[in-house]
Amino acid sequence: MKTGRGWRVGIRDFLMMSSGTRQRPHLKGPNWVIILVCLVSIFLIGVYIYPPRNSAACYIFFSGSCSEQETVPVVPSRELTDEENAAQVVIREILKSSPIALKNPKIAFMFLTPGPLPFEMLWDKFFQGNDDRFTVYVHASREQPEHRSPHFVGRNIRSDKVDWGKISMVDAEKRLLMNALQDPDNQQFVLLSDSCVPLHHFDYVYNYLIFTNVSFIDCYDDPGPHGGGRYSEHMLPEVEYKDFRKGSQWFTMIRRHALLIMADSLYYKKFRLYCRPGMEGRNCYADEHYFPTLFRMVDPGGIANWSVTYVDWSERKWHPKSYKSQDVTPKLLRNITAFDTSLHFTSDEKKTVLTTPCIWNGIRRPCFLFARKFFPETLDNLMQLFSNSTAY
Ligand SMILES: *[C@@H]1O[C@H](CO)[C@@H](O)[C@H](O)[C@H]1NC(C)=O
Ligand SMILES: *[C@@H]1O[C@H](CO)[C@@H](O)[C@H](O)[C@H]1NC(C)=O
Ligand SMILES: *[C@@H]1O[C@H](CO)[C@@H](O)[C@H](O)[C@H]1NC(C)=O
Ligand SMILES: *[C@@H]1O[C@H](CO)[C@@H](O)[C@H](O)[C@H]1NC(C)=O
Repeated sequence: MKTGRGWRVGIRDFLMMSSGTRQRPHLKGPNWVIILVCLVSIFLIGVYIYPPRNSAACYIFFSGSCSEQETVPVVPSRELTDEENAAQVVIREILKSSPIALKNPKIAFMFLTPGPLPFEMLWDKFFQGNDDRFTVYVHASREQPEHRSPHFVGRNIRSDKVDWGKISMVDAEKRLLMNALQDPDNQQFVLLSDSCVPLHHFDYVYNYLIFTNVSFIDCYDDPGPHGGGRYSEHMLPEVEYKDFRKGSQWFTMIRRHALLIMADSLYYKKFRLYCRPGMEGRNCYADEHYFPTLFRMVDPGGIANWSVTYVDWSERKWHPKSYKSQDVTPKLLRNITAFDTSLHFTSDEKKTVLTTPCIWNGIRRPCFLFARKFFPETLDNLMQLFSNSTAY
């Protein structure tokens, strides 16, 4: 990246210099030759300092050492710190471990919210009658909510400020995982926002999640400016461009993967330092890249590559579609729950839409268990639909 920019700047300087000379028409022969020689030398020095990226130009100026440079990017290696070496060892061991069969496996529902939860009473209905099969954790970053549902009372964890798009978002997710891991019965860890609602009754969600051995982590390759364009070469050698991935932050994770997140200091540090808003004049959001890239590198077969939390990006605006009261109908629920393909909208010039068929253990399944983003005013409609078991 940097060398490419240097090359263009070099050419621009050269053109500016040559057009400057054109404004002095009365140069005598020898002067003109001296200036020409100077310009050519400056140009060649420029080419030497900022080698061209284009391979044809590379051969003209440096016949010989071009092709290797083009095809095998040199990944600088470095010595890992003790802490980073320890992280590598622990990550490898965690991935080798097999899950323990529990008598009473539970699902941890982890709510990441700025303040009150507008759909608390809908979730209350969802949880009713399943007391020994779930746990709830609430991370409220701005204002500690007062809860009405007994399933939520006393479930706020110690929380910290969260800045949108910054590493503090990932830190809050890690804090939720850390709390939920303390209950040895928790086997699946679901991250939800304050605008998320369930699309099915509890049994369906429980059976879908508890009998799987993959994490539903969204992960795709967006070559455009909002995907690969956010990569920084400072992440080398640990994170290479070819592994850099994007995905929505709303995951469900198996216990082994939640532990892996606790153990990782090596890759986490790269994202904390080099994937942030304003990095080298671009915005990188760690919560959209850290988990997809990490699992793509360390356990690609262990993630489903789509998120079970639906959101509608088809309008291709800065924010996804938000649902109002009039949108919440049995038809909407039927539409969302019927998807067995997950769509990914890329930011490249062709605006490619990638499709991931929702398959695990060889069986094609409906993709979604939860959906966002719903306005608080939709609560009554959703409660009614939820009570109508033919609609849900
Ligand atoms: C998950 O389980 C299926 C069937 O038991 C198995 O084929 C697959 O390899 C497992 N996947 C992982 C990531 O353990
Ligand atoms: C997710 O994608 C990775 C890499 O593209 C692939 O190896 C893996 O099998 C995919 N996961 C599933 C469950 O298909
Ligand atoms: C849901 O509705 C959208 C827009 O009306 C449509 O494009 C899509 O195919 C529908 N999906 C399903 C699974 O019915
Ligand atoms: C319940 O759901 C069915 C099927 O979607 C719908 O036809 C019916 O009108 C709903 N009843 C109520 C009371 O909402």
